[in-house]
Amino acid sequence: MEKKNIDWGNLGFGYLQTDKRFVSNFKNGAWDEGVLTEDDKVVISECAGVLQYAQTCFEGMKAYTTEDGHIVTFRPDLNAERMEASCLRLEMPVFPKDKFVEAVVKTVEANEAYVPPYGSGATLYIRPYMFGSNPVIGVKPADEYQFRIFTTPVGPYFKGGVKPLTIRICDFDRAAPHGTGHIKAGLNYAMSLHAIVDAHHQGYDENMYLDAATRTKVEETGGANFIFVTKDGKVVTPKSNSILPSITRRSLMVVAKDYLGLEVEEREVYKEELKDFAEAGLCGTAAVISPVGKIVDHGTEICLPSGMSDMGPVTKKLYETLTGIQMGRIEAPQGWIKVIK
Ligand code: PLP
Ligand code: COI
Repeated sequence: MEKKNIDWGNLGFGYLQTDKRFVSNFKNGAWDEGVLTEDDKVVISECAGVLQYAQTCFEGMKAYTTEDGHIVTFRPDLNAERMEASCLRLEMPVFPKDKFVEAVVKTVEANEAYVPPYGSGATLYIRPYMFGSNPVIGVKPADEYQFRIFTTPVGPYFKGGVKPLTIRICDFDRAAPHGTGHIKAGLNYAMSLHAIVDAHHQGYDENMYLDAATRTKVEETGGANFIFVTKDGKVVTPKSNSILPSITRRSLMVVAKDYLGLEVEEREVYKEELKDFAEAGLCGTAAVISPVGKIVDHGTEICLPSGMSDMGPVTKKLYETLTGIQMGRIEAPQGWIKVIK
């Protein structure tokens, strides 16, 4: 398979239209078989549930070319399960897990020419999503839905690759205590747009959201979970019912414990503790692990001892082990790698 003529090494995190996408429709209580199509346009009613009441959720995952030339994806069963949780919370029909994984495989296969080569620094981002497609004007769930998957080759989420980020503690909330922060609903991201534009205007790379109820505990950013490393080498990650259960973060905790022999803790993390950590990072499919060098709390700077030029040593080991597993350089735990080709 001849690859597309793309400057893989200079890709940012953007959308580039690829050849095929998967589309399945839900009507009269059932999903159809689904097809791969070249048509990238979605045509829906002006009154579609998604347009009026934001009834939509999505997933994010990646396909990788491994060192030995296979194309693989990482724990797609967990994305299927998380999308199921999102759909149930948003009163949307579930797209069955086996069909979800099958559709991901088919979509990646159909866009093989866009899967970045091993060692290029780029990956193929996979975006499954679903939305209410029929007219809804009273506030209620739609009756008809579309499930789609497109792919796009991407480079690093943050410009500058793995250069440590400067983030700020944000005065806006992302998620309410009993709201939708734990699912991947489009509305959570709409909520975060003003906050991220404002953060960028003020010179910050990202927002650190606190828990909305007490504003004392660390939650996550708009698109990634946090990991911290204590001065005695423990890996700590915030526990909260209103953050997204990141597949990267859950995997990193296993990597830290089983591959690196580190102590791990998933627990409430107080804002007051931030000054005591040795390293901090964001983790997610798009972010991979992006180190944090500085956290600004209303003018007070918390400078992580790991500094502003490089990842901290533990963060780096986590990064290298996780990406090593994803790119086939390090043996993966059973069931983590789905070989596509
Ligand atoms: N938190 C939020 C709000 C996200 O959007 C994402 C991205 O998917 C994550 C965390 C990281 O999750 P994952 O590691 O499953 O990609
Ligand atoms: C992902 O990491 O896949 C995400 O969905 C984060 C994002 C908002 C780009």
